Amino acid sequence: MGNKIRLGIIYGGKTSEHEVSLLTALSIMKAVDKNKYEVQPIYVQMDGTWLKGGPIADQVLESVNVLRLDGGVSPSSNDQEKQGQITHVGNQSLVGKPANVMSIHQEVDVIFPVIHGPNGEDGTVQGLLELAGIPYVGTGVMASAVGMDKLMMKNVFAQAGLDQVQYMGFLRSQIERDVASVMNQIEQKLGYPCFVKPANMGSSVGITKAKDRDDLRRALELACKFDRRIIVEEFIKAREVEIGVLGNEELHTSVIGEVIAAKEFYDYEAKYKGGGTDLKIPADLPQQVADRIAEMAKTAFQALDGSGLSRVDFFYDEENDRVVINEVNTMPGFTPFSMYPMLFAEAGIPYAELIDRLVQLGLERYEEKQRNIVAAEELE
Ligand SMILES: Nc1ncnc2c1ncn2[C@@H]1O[C@H](COP(=O)(O)OP(=O)(O)O)[C@@H](O)[C@H]1O
Ligand SMILES: [Mg+2]
Repeated sequence: MGNKIRLGIIYGGKTSEHEVSLLTALSIMKAVDKNKYEVQPIYVQMDGTWLKGGPIADQVLESVNVLRLDGGVSPSSNDQEKQGQITHVGNQSLVGKPANVMSIHQEVDVIFPVIHGPNGEDGTVQGLLELAGIPYVGTGVMASAVGMDKLMMKNVFAQAGLDQVQYMGFLRSQIERDVASVMNQIEQKLGYPCFVKPANMGSSVGITKAKDRDDLRRALELACKFDRRIIVEEFIKAREVEIGVLGNEELHTSVIGEVIAAKEFYDYEAKYKGGGTDLKIPADLPQQVADRIAEMAKTAFQALDGSGLSRVDFFYDEENDRVVINEVNTMPGFTPFSMYPMLFAEAGIPYAELIDRLVQLGLERYEEKQRNIVAAEELE
C-alpha cells in the first residue's frame, strides 16, 4: 500500500464530450494495476463543480449506461462485459465529496486528466494543475491550447512546413456583420464543397460540409453558435488515417489506422455511437506513405511542443499521392477500443502498459520542469 502511486483521474467536464470522458475514466480505473496504483477519481460535473471519492467511481458505471456508448466503437465481445456490469439507470444524485483542486495535491502523486474538448483538452485544466504543482499525464498548457484551436493549430503547422488543405479563418462578429462578403471570399478561395468548423470544438460538433451557398450560410450560423472563431476548409477527397505519438522528447509512433466512415463524414454519431464506422488497423498503405505519415506526425507533435500523447490525423489522397495533416488530438479517445490505444496495442504496448508509460512520462516531464530556476539570484 505504502509505495503505491496515487493516481488522480479527472474526468467528465463542462464539455460536449462529457460522456466520452466518463467511459475513458472508467476504462482506466478498471485497467490500472491495483498493486501499483491507488486511484482517486475526481469528477467534474456538467455544471463545472468538482467531486471526488470512491463512490464516484461506481457512479461512473451508472452514468456510462445512461450514455449507451456501447455501439460500433467497441468489438461486440466486450459489449457483454460492459453491459453486465452496469444495471441501474436513473436520475442519481452523486454522493462524492466536493473537491478542491488546490488541496488535491496532498492526496495524489500524479493526475491523469481525461477531459476532452473545451475546458479540459484546451490547457485550462492543465493550467490549474501547473498552478497547484501537481504532475500530470499528457500535453502541457501551450500545446493543449494550440491543439484545441483548429486555426491556431493550422497556422503552427504551416510554419512547420506541413502540407494541409487550404483554409480561412473568420470571427463571428465578421460573419454577423456581413455574411455575404464572407461567403464571397470563401467561394472565391475554396469553392464547394467546403467544411465549416468552430475553431474550438471536437468530436465533429458544429461541423458542416457545405455544398452550396445556402448550406454555407446555415453552416456558418451553426458554427457561430459554438465559437467566436470559425475555420472554413477546402474539401479533400481522401482516406482518413491516424497515428499515435507517445513520448516527451524522444518520440515513438504507433502503427497507422484507417477510419472508414459509412456516413458522409466522420461525425459525432459515427465516432461514438457506432453508425457503421470501421477502424482498420493497421491501415493498408505503401511503406513509404506510412513512413511519411510517421515523420509528419512527429514534426506536428514537436511543432506544438507536445508531451505524453497525441493522435495525429491525416488525409491520404491516393490519386495524387498526397498526405495532408488534418489535426492533432492532444487528448484522444482513450478507452481500450479507441483508436489511440488500439494503435499502440497493435504496436506491442497493451492498454495497461500504455497508461503506465504515460504516467511515467508525466512524472518525468514534471521532474524536467523542476530543473528550471525561477530567479536569476538562484545562479551561483
Ligand atoms: N477539409 C476536409 N475535407 C474532407 N473531409 C473533412 C475535412 N475536414 C473535416 N472532414 C471530415 O470531418 C470529420 C471531422 O473533422 P475534424 O476537423 O477532424 O473535426 P473534429 O475535431 O471534430 O474531429 C473528419 O474526420 C472528416 O471526416
Ligand atoms: Mg478529427
